[in-house]
Amino acid sequence: IYQTKNTDKMTILTKLQIDMIRSKISGLGFFVPENVVSNDDLSKLMDTSNDWISERTGIKNRRWVGDKKLTTSLMGTYAAEKAIADAGIDKNDIDFIIFSTLSPDYYFPGSGVLLQRNLGIKEIGALDVRNQCSGFIYGLSIADQYIKSGMYKNILLVGSEIHSGGLDKSTKGRSVSVIFGDGAGAAIISSTKSENGILSTHLHSEGKYAEELAVIKPATTHWIDKIKSDQNDESFWPYMNGNFVFKNAVVRFEQVIKEGLEHSNLNLEDISLLIPHQANLRISQFIQKKLKLSDSQVFNNIMKYGNTTAASIPIALTEAYQSNLKKKNDIVVLAAFGSGFTWGSAVIKW
Ligand code: UT7
Repeated sequence: IYQTKNTDKMTILTKLQIDMIRSKISGLGFFVPENVVSNDDLSKLMDTSNDWISERTGIKNRRWVGDKKLTTSLMGTYAAEKAIADAGIDKNDIDFIIFSTLSPDYYFPGSGVLLQRNLGIKEIGALDVRNQCSGFIYGLSIADQYIKSGMYKNILLVGSEIHSGGLDKSTKGRSVSVIFGDGAGAAIISSTKSENGILSTHLHSEGKYAEELAVIKPATTHWIDKIKSDQNDESFWPYMNGNFVFKNAVVRFEQVIKEGLEHSNLNLEDISLLIPHQANLRISQFIQKKLKLSDSQVFNNIMKYGNTTAASIPIALTEAYQSNLKKKNDIVVLAAFGSGFTWGSAVIKW
């Protein structure tokens, strides 16, 4: 790699310096709407029950924005402000924004530019990531590469979602609508010369299952006029082939967690804390059992917030961090699976 035609002392030095750069999570924060929606509240809207939702998903409550004037980018801004304060940096020290969401404020432009406007910071780049439940891990991987290349020093990564407005809250939509919650989480990813930080990220996709968990319309394949012309077409609601998604999720979670650990010569026993995307408590418990992890090795908070897709990992990570569940040198593993299908993991030495 160093024996190119133009190699000289200067180039070698620069390359070695870049090799030493790692990225770390230097600040965390989250924001959820005040409005708590319990399982009993949902049973007033549709034919469901606290027992069904608790047993099948582990969810007790979720937050929905309700009549509060909150948007996806605004919630992301509140989470970002907390992460910036936690990192102890000035907001103008941020070099780049990555915004992960499946529920952006607008069809276009993306929510990243709205976050830049809300924060009132200089004209840095802003990228939107469309990878649903895996959005935060995809964003983290992008941030990690930018930082390791030496291009940026501080990246603001946000996952924010407002699901509540786009759910079919009738009995017909109950298998999906009881699961999803609104919320936002943010992280500052900074460069470090320490050996602690992000050790690896691994990303995957399998587009042949794109329609197994999707919102199909409106989109370029089906513009508004087409939807209006067919009154019986309701494919603007989210569709999920729940059993199929569940079965794929447990397999992919296991694979990608092991892939991440193997990359860094680590074993399952080395995991101090696994933070899986909060899709369903039964999925987390299944993975825990499969990987033979103890209760203290796996963090779950789906009971309180439901599935907040791209926001679920940064919300959980912040709560784990604020509860002092992570110590220096701990190995923290993040993993996600969702629509696409997409999945990924990140292994971090805290
Ligand atoms: O975050 C992205 C990735 N997402 C996931 O990983 C989610 C994966 N899937 C799941 O979590 C589960 O499949 C669900 C929670 C979505 C559904 O649980 P399930 O155990 O797979 O239930 P099911 O869809 O097989 O439905 C079982 C029964 C059905 O009734 P019948 O046909 O047996 O009479 C449903 O109609 O439960 C019924 N049902 C409900 N009943 C009460 C479905 N939703 C509800 C509901 N309340 N909300």
